[in-house]
Amino acid sequence: MKQNWKPGTLLYPLPAVMVSCGSEPSEFNIITLAWVGTICSNPPMCYISVRPERHSYEIIRRNMEFVINLTTQDMAFATDWCGVNSGREHNKFEEMNLTPGKASVVSAPTIEESPLSIECRVKEVTALGSHDMFIADVVNILADDKYLRPSTGAFDMEAANLLAYSHGQYYELGNPIGKFGWSVQKKK
Ligand SMILES: Cc1cc2nc3c(=O)[nH]c(=O)nc-3n(C[C@H](O)[C@H](O)[C@H](O)COP(=O)(O)O)c2cc1C
Repeated sequence: MKQNWKPGTLLYPLPAVMVSCGSEPSEFNIITLAWVGTICSNPPMCYISVRPERHSYEIIRRNMEFVINLTTQDMAFATDWCGVNSGREHNKFEEMNLTPGKASVVSAPTIEESPLSIECRVKEVTALGSHDMFIADVVNILADDKYLRPSTGAFDMEAANLLAYSHGQYYELGNPIGKFGWSVQKKK
């Protein structure tokens, strides 16, 4: 039997990303976000949803730029910590031993320890209720070349040990069980 539940936010699993923001070191900050996603392929666009009371909110609003940094198993502790502490009281880069890196296009810093940093420029801000949605163009990607497969040059997502988030828990990804299109592939 299926039960009817009141409307809620139960779309899982999701990434738990670390979004870095600020245009100069004195305002650099990191916020952990799960309300984040891809919304268009061409042009490549993403969204993040941020509560206006977050310290990062003002920083992103002021600069209209941010970087989405994918997180890994090794970054799981820092991912959670940056999601339960505020930049109002903490220098998150310093306290989590994370390194602010120079992005190529935006002035917000990257997180050097992240395998993949997605540079974003905000196009539109929509107030939705508890959260404001920042719709942004992806203006550059910085990929750590230690994850590039020498044979193909392709980014090895599996080797990056990306973190997933589901209903309050962090997970490492399991084994691949199929690939895009495998369901319709002709059997050899
Ligand atoms: C796994 C996880 C996901 C989160 N997702 C969001 C989110 O999507 N939007 C949001 O506004 N806050 C989210 N938060 C809460 C913020 O990261 C948290 O309030 C943080 O302390 C804000 O930092 P700041 O005040 O330095 O900006 C999340 C926290 C965690 C741990």
